[in-house]
Amino acid sequence: MSCTVVVGTQWGDEGKGKIVDYLTRTADIVARYQGGANAGHTVVIDGETFILHQIPSGILHPGIVCVIGNGVVLDPPTFFEEMEELSKKGVETAGRIKISGRTHLIMPYHKALDRAREEVLGADRIGTTGRGIGPAYEDKAGRTGVRMADLADPERLCRRIRENVEVKNLLLDHFGSREPLRADEIVDEVMAYREDLLGYMEDTSLFLTRSLEERREVVAEGAQGTMLDIDHGTYPFVTSSNTTVGAVAIGLGISPTWIERVVGVAKAYTTRVGRGPFPTEASGDIGRHLRGLGNEFGATTGRPRRCGWFDAPIVRYSVRLSGITELAVTKLDVLDGIEALKIGTGYHYGGKFTVDFPAHRPDLEKLDPIYEEMQGWRGQTRGKVRCRDLPAEAIDYLKRIEELAVCPVRYISTGVERDDIIDLWEEG
Ligand code: GDP
Ligand code: IMO
Ligand code: MG
Repeated sequence: MSCTVVVGTQWGDEGKGKIVDYLTRTADIVARYQGGANAGHTVVIDGETFILHQIPSGILHPGIVCVIGNGVVLDPPTFFEEMEELSKKGVETAGRIKISGRTHLIMPYHKALDRAREEVLGADRIGTTGRGIGPAYEDKAGRTGVRMADLADPERLCRRIRENVEVKNLLLDHFGSREPLRADEIVDEVMAYREDLLGYMEDTSLFLTRSLEERREVVAEGAQGTMLDIDHGTYPFVTSSNTTVGAVAIGLGISPTWIERVVGVAKAYTTRVGRGPFPTEASGDIGRHLRGLGNEFGATTGRPRRCGWFDAPIVRYSVRLSGITELAVTKLDVLDGIEALKIGTGYHYGGKFTVDFPAHRPDLEKLDPIYEEMQGWRGQTRGKVRCRDLPAEAIDYLKRIEELAVCPVRYISTGVERDDIIDLWEEG
């Protein structure tokens, strides 16, 4: 009947996987519209942890159809590994996954280039996940990419791969890589999975539109977060796709008028992996406390996440950019027992005060956050499933987030488990 979009409001890892899993209980289809295996979306069911990189998180509900849209850059070996992992854990995937013929494929040379470039950049590196995301989107924009549908024409496919490898080897040589890539090996690798992957190909734009016309519920699952958006994030410390709501229509091939709700996922504090500006970062005891209790280590790379206080202007910015209709605040339980909490409400920079996140460098590197202190709570929020069981101070904290972000909070996540969640609107 309509499309509900899930977007990250911070620098990724807000808990989108868990919220998508919750929302897909009542949906028919879940679709990824951008990003690739740089994403790591976690869902925990009865103590068992599932980390999804490219397959939509809704796969954990039997019967839901999963779509990988044209806006995604798909890494085939990782896709097959994920499928195997799911099958080992007893998740039935047969007939449930559709991949757009327009989806670009990540090639080994994309990953090699991503890593080589980061190494050359040294202290100036982005801190990418090394999954080849940037180089794959570069080839898409440069019109030299390999798409799912190209797998159907092996002769042309091999030609394209060989042409690309020749150019990429020049670049790799420039970046100081010792060994050139061998086109034959890459061709063999692609030929080995070609037929299997083609089995998943479909015109997903048509499938999704028809499904919406037939009044089916679609959840569009975003990866990364607003501040990693290539246009609106903290450029150049961003990913290479648009992560905000505008990407949904393009990345799935559906009209934007199908979008009815936009759920913005925000952690009750802030984290970031990789380099780049992070105004409310707390490097001392509190940063360590949040990392420890929140288990803030990357789901894809295992890197420790940088941690800090809730930054209201960035969530407000995200609400503005994506027209977020309701917020899902996650990891509230991680704040349990902290005596005094802080919320970043605005910034000083260059003698000015603002509550609007600056649009570009160098302003965004000079932000001095303004904090408001709030009283923490003694009781526990962990595992609570009713709002009335939350300590009064926790409710005050959420109300303040609503005011500052200018958006209602609908969902509150209180633990890692699938069922540790409160839906305030359902509660009434
Ligand atoms: P995503 O990339 O936005 O899907 O988020 P990640 O899965 O990368 O990171 C979120 C982490 O927080 C995962 O380890 C989740 O299991 C965990 N998580 C999600 N919601 C909660 C919550 O409410 N409380 C706690 N303690 N952990 C949570
Ligand atoms: P999910 O979907 C957090 C970050 C990287 C790096 C920058 C560019 O799990 O929220 P890339 O490999 O995309 O070229 O890296 O973006 N990054 C993420 N950070 N969560 C993610 O995904 C991320 N995907 C990319 O750490 O700073
Ligand atoms: Mg993640």
